[in-house]
Amino acid sequence: MTNSGHDATSCDAHRSRDEGPATDDDADTDHAIIVDGLHKTFRARRGQAGVVAIDDVSFVVERGQTLGIVGESGSGKSTVARCLLGLTPVDAGSVEVLGRSIVGANPKQLRSWRSEMQIVFQEPLESLDPRYRVRDAIGEPLLLHTDMRGDVLRKRVDELLAQVSLATDLGARYPHELSGGQQQRVNIARALATDPSVIVLDEPTASLDVSVQAEVLSLLVDLQAQFGLTYLLISHDLTTIRAVADRVAVMYLGRLIEVGPVDEVLTNPEHPYTEFLIGAELSVNPHVKPAAPVVQGEVRGGERPSGCVFAQRCPLRMDACEEAQPELRIASAGHEAACLVVGNKHDLAGAAAEYRLTDEGS
Ligand SMILES: Nc1ncnc2c1ncn2[C@@H]1O[C@H](COP(=O)(O)OP(=O)(O)OP(=O)(O)O)[C@@H](O)[C@H]1O
Ligand SMILES: [Mg+2]
Repeated sequence: MTNSGHDATSCDAHRSRDEGPATDDDADTDHAIIVDGLHKTFRARRGQAGVVAIDDVSFVVERGQTLGIVGESGSGKSTVARCLLGLTPVDAGSVEVLGRSIVGANPKQLRSWRSEMQIVFQEPLESLDPRYRVRDAIGEPLLLHTDMRGDVLRKRVDELLAQVSLATDLGARYPHELSGGQQQRVNIARALATDPSVIVLDEPTASLDVSVQAEVLSLLVDLQAQFGLTYLLISHDLTTIRAVADRVAVMYLGRLIEVGPVDEVLTNPEHPYTEFLIGAELSVNPHVKPAAPVVQGEVRGGERPSGCVFAQRCPLRMDACEEAQPELRIASAGHEAACLVVGNKHDLAGAAAEYRLTDEGS
């Protein structure tokens, strides 16, 4: 999975505030993606407050690596993905993908860069035009972004079908004549068509049957190794993140609250919310009520707490947590969490376990 040969546990998979904004120096680094101080609030509809979807999010992804983003529904994962590709304008902060500044780029620039940075969405069928046969769907990005035509284009489409393990004769079918897994393979082939370096995967297997999920994930892992792709992988599912990601970023109500190497974060979580997520995943006892969702509904702009976004539900809450949102603190090499008790991992784990028991028993 790790193709860059760079140490995945180094601190630089997250850009801390102290490092300041991206500079020209970053062109020399091995970062495919640099997000710095990203903010996005969706404007209010009449009578409603705006929704803070992303609040000061910063991270980097090294070339050839996968950063997984986890967090519950509404935590801002897809908004990060859309801002990354210039599909949603940002309010503040900078986004650099493959050395190109996405913020401030014009639509023509964004279109021309799209061949290098692609996205695969959750719903495979919705992403495909029902009027296009599979061959035409896969050939479309080649028509848009390359000079390939005729036999050359046909050959390239055959090659792409093979790369995603689809039989050539499926090329003549329409999307609705395929299974969900096959449809998602077509979307992956479309994303691969123009030889991108970066692919954003927004819940790419969430709508597939469990039996098919593993196959598609394994295909993604193989393609990454083959082509040195950089992935931003969004998922609710920690099993998916474990299978594909090198590093994981945990989001909560628009904030990035923990980031680090996957094994480290999921084995030794520092933030109580990450602990909670892992606990919810592990709660398989049929006699124990599943852990309740931590947050119900959306947090509107006007109601956003001034302190830690997790404080209201946190078993370790202290007065200081209500005063200001904690910045990310280094827990270990490359592992950071936005919590005042970072470093007291032993106490934290004990308290969080107690919290889970209390929550499940309620
Ligand atoms: N176009 C929009 N207009 C208004 N609010 C939006 C828009 N897109 C997203 N939001 C809000 O921004 C917040 C973050 O949404 P986002 O889709 O990024 O969450 P998510 O983590 O991807 O959730 P899910 O896991 O359900 O896909 C939510 O409160 C959502 O309602
Ligand atoms: Mg989403």
